[in-house]
Amino acid sequence: MRVPYLDLPSQFADPELHSALQAQLAACSFVLGPEVERFEAAFADLCGAAYALGLNSGTDAIFLALRALGVGPGDEVITAPNSFVATAGAIAAAGARPVFVDVGPDYNLDPELLPAAITSRSKAILPVHLTGKLADMPRIMEIAKRHGLPVVEDAAQAVRAELQGRRAGAWGAAGCFSLHPLKNLNVAGDGGMLTTNDPELYAAVKKLRNHGLRNRDEVEFFGFNSRLDNLQAVVGLHQLGKLEEVTARRRANAALYDQLLGDLAPQVVVPPRDPEHFQVFHTYVVQVERREELREHLAQQGVDSKIHYPIPIHLQRPCRELGHQEGDFPVCENQACRILTLPVHQHLRPAQVRYVADQIARFYRVG
Ligand SMILES: Cc1ncc(COP(=O)(O)O)c(C=O)c1O
Repeated sequence: MRVPYLDLPSQFADPELHSALQAQLAACSFVLGPEVERFEAAFADLCGAAYALGLNSGTDAIFLALRALGVGPGDEVITAPNSFVATAGAIAAAGARPVFVDVGPDYNLDPELLPAAITSRSKAILPVHLTGKLADMPRIMEIAKRHGLPVVEDAAQAVRAELQGRRAGAWGAAGCFSLHPLKNLNVAGDGGMLTTNDPELYAAVKKLRNHGLRNRDEVEFFGFNSRLDNLQAVVGLHQLGKLEEVTARRRANAALYDQLLGDLAPQVVVPPRDPEHFQVFHTYVVQVERREELREHLAQQGVDSKIHYPIPIHLQRPCRELGHQEGDFPVCENQACRILTLPVHQHLRPAQVRYVADQIARFYRVG
């Protein structure tokens, strides 16, 4: 049996989507059209936020949120070291220094360690909702409030995820989403979305994404070109209509893995669960013993797997300048050696999930 990590051809072979795109092409309306506004309104609604803005990537959503909050050279932004590099990259692009805080067993920033990382140069806190599970936002928000710091959510992996009934993107000053093809809500290329409840931040990012233009002819400040294309908004609106089903299927696949792999501890450790969380499983990450051998075995049996991410950001080359070394964030580093991402996408059939679990069980049984 073949178990691909993703199945984009099945998702994008949708005649309804093709005719919507054809109509958009025929209309020759490409930039900042009503489709973008419709997608933004629907996205804001989905997240339970007052506003949403379509941007050209999740990375830009973080970068522009930080810029709008006045983050710049000399400032520090606190984040997690186990994210995709874009999180720290966007902080650096804003001219600030990423300050890392180790993560907990749920792969998210450990709020216990947060206060010690706050200095007089701290300008914002940037938790990442990794794997599609919210970071501990109630505690992070409380600490941030005590220190008068804004929180920007890296919600790139967490569209529609909830904690205590409140969705990703509705907690902090801004929520930053990726619409990259690998994401649960994806477009046909790069794309991003920023959510906020703050009318001033909304107005600032709206201008920042479009050259700082106040209107067609007047520029308020120098900005950027970070607009979501109308064609991508058409794709996004289409996918949004399917998100409930996509999410339900991913959650069902994750639940089946939990059930089938739960007994294999300590060789296989399934993702931590918490009844207060609604997890959307952008990734289904297990921790395993003898990872490389297991990956090889799975590949031989037709099963794709990935590692998100094998080298923590603080150990990447650009962070040498920040003075980081191995041992700085032991929980994250230990997880980086053990984590393995299994296919969990919406097109997987239960028989495929059973096959993957069976192959893993077999690998450890044979030993
Ligand atoms: C946690 C995280 N942050 C930021 C990003 C950046 O998003 P994008 O690729 O849309 O720029 C991604 C996705 O790639 C991500 O997974």
